[in-house]
Amino acid sequence: MAKFLVTGASGTLGRMVLQRLVERREEVRGLVRPGKLDLLAQEVRREVELVAGDYDDEASLQAALEGVDYVITAVRASLYDSPKQHYALEADGNRRLFRLAAAAGVSHLTFISLLHAEKFPEIHIFNAKHQAENILRESDLDYTILRPGALMSRAMLLRTLTGLSKGWFTPVEGENMPHSPLMYDDLAEFCVRAYALPEACKRTFNLGGPKVYHGSDWVRDLAANYGLPFKLRPRGSSFLANTMMRLVQPQSRYATAYIHLKTTQDFSVSPEEMAHTAALFGVKLRPMEEFYPPIPSS
Ligand SMILES: NC(=O)c1ccc[n+]([C@@H]2O[C@H](COP(=O)([O-])OP(=O)(O)OC[C@H]3O[C@@H](n4cnc5c(N)ncnc54)[C@H](OP(=O)(O)O)[C@@H]3O)[C@@H](O)[C@H]2O)c1
Repeated sequence: MAKFLVTGASGTLGRMVLQRLVERREEVRGLVRPGKLDLLAQEVRREVELVAGDYDDEASLQAALEGVDYVITAVRASLYDSPKQHYALEADGNRRLFRLAAAAGVSHLTFISLLHAEKFPEIHIFNAKHQAENILRESDLDYTILRPGALMSRAMLLRTLTGLSKGWFTPVEGENMPHSPLMYDDLAEFCVRAYALPEACKRTFNLGGPKVYHGSDWVRDLAANYGLPFKLRPRGSSFLANTMMRLVQPQSRYATAYIHLKTTQDFSVSPEEMAHTAALFGVKLRPMEEFYPPIPSS
């Protein structure tokens, strides 16, 4: 029986990928950083072999890769980590993982990158992912690179809905730029299918959801669905709020350029391109509305 290794198994995507592989009755090992085992639901912990490890720790990666056929990577540094931390994980850590995976005889590796990774070399979050992509392309591995833009989860929808129901303001997303959020659940489906598709081997795919939104349109739709008021406030317009943020969380400066870019550039994938990619992978893309949560009790 083939064996999968999922890295970033304690993360939002990693947990969903683990869950799907378990449902498909695959043999699964999850790599989690020491001390994060408790984040995983009891049922997953029962059915998955969890190993502690870190991209910084060569021996832990080597042990995690033993006997593994397919790898799915779902790691990322925090938005608030320094550029040095991003390069340490994405460039150095992935170089280590890819080399060890090839040496361990891994048949296929699915790498989660970022939409437009090559387009903004001046922004470390993009550039670090782009470096990792290129290291993978030059490796001896068979691989698929998946590049999602914006991601959306049930938890994020619930948080936004809770804010709306309390009458909070919604920050305006940039200048009404197009983006096409993909549900994490659907991204997890792409992840568990890539290894079996010869047409996806050594290829890179942009990923988005089925619908293109502009700016905060999706919040407007959410509010309208529940009959809640929708009040807009331009993001980043408050000098006082920005100054306070930097005092409370100095690392927020690392995220600023990334957030600015994500809200001032086109981060959509056209519905035509997505229909084609989804058909290739056999994934049914679900609109955000299918994940609207029940009304939160106040
Ligand atoms: N979120 C987005 O909007 C977005 C958009 C486009 C692409 N992506 C990509 O999608 C993938 C999944 O993202 P996500 O939102 O699920 O991320 P997430 O919830 O933040 O999870 C990240 C995971 O990476 C792990 N990790 C970080 N540094 C590590 C290291 N040195 N060694 C081992 N594990 C490490 C974390 O472990 P701990 O739990 O110990 O911290 C966590 O399990 C990532 O590749 C990300 O770049 C995300």
